[in-house]
Amino acid sequence: MLRVLVCVSGGGTNLQAILDAGAKGELGDTEIVRVISNNPNAYALERAKNAGVDAVCVSPKDYAAREEFHAALLDAMNAAKPDLIVLAGFLVVIPKEVIQAYRGRIINIHPSLIPSFCGTGYYGLKVHEAALERGVKITGATVHYVDEGTDTGPIIAQKAVEVHDGDTPKELQLRVMQEAEWVILPKAIRMIADKQ
Ligand code: GAR
Repeated sequence: MLRVLVCVSGGGTNLQAILDAGAKGELGDTEIVRVISNNPNAYALERAKNAGVDAVCVSPKDYAAREEFHAALLDAMNAAKPDLIVLAGFLVVIPKEVIQAYRGRIINIHPSLIPSFCGTGYYGLKVHEAALERGVKITGATVHYVDEGTDTGPIIAQKAVEVHDGDTPKELQLRVMQEAEWVILPKAIRMIADKQ
C-alpha cells in the first residue's frame, strides 16, 4: 500500500483528478492519507474533506519565523507517515529538511514541458503567459521528482498540448490541465505504486 500525502495551495483541480482516479481504482494499491495546504482558504481543502480525506492547513502566517513554519510543515507531513508526497499546485519552496527526509519520494506537477518555462518565478498562470509571449506552438505538463533546485529533478512523465491561435493564458492553462496535468499526475502515482 502506497500512502500518499498531497500538498496544495489553491483550487485543487489536480488533487481532484487524483481523488477521482483513486475512486475509480486507477491508482493501484494507493491510499490518499492526508492533504496539507499552506493557505487556509484553498478550495482544495474542501475537495479533500468532501472525499473524506484528512485535510490540514499549515500556514506560514501562523509562525513568527520561517524555520518554525518549516518545522510545523515537516511535523504535519511526518504525522501522515507518507511513502510519497505529491506537490499538486503547492506554491511553497520546499524546505531542505523536507527534501532530506523524503529524498526520491516527492513529486511535483509543473504546467510546461520542462526545461521550458520553469524555475524561479514560473508558476501558475505566469508559465502560460510566458509560453504565449514566446510564441511556442506546443506546450504541456511535466511530472518530476523534487530535489534542492526549482523544477530540476528527474522527469517522470510529460505530455504535449497544442497552443491555439488567439489563446488567452487562462484558455491555455485550462487546456494544459485537461489534456495533460489531470492525465499524467494520476498516471505517475500509479507507476510509483506499481513499483512498490
Ligand atoms: C497547476 O496548473 C499546477 O501545474 C501549477 O499550479 C496549478 C495548480 O492548480 N503548479 C505550478 O505552477 C508549480 N510550479 P490546481 O490547484 O487547480 O491543481
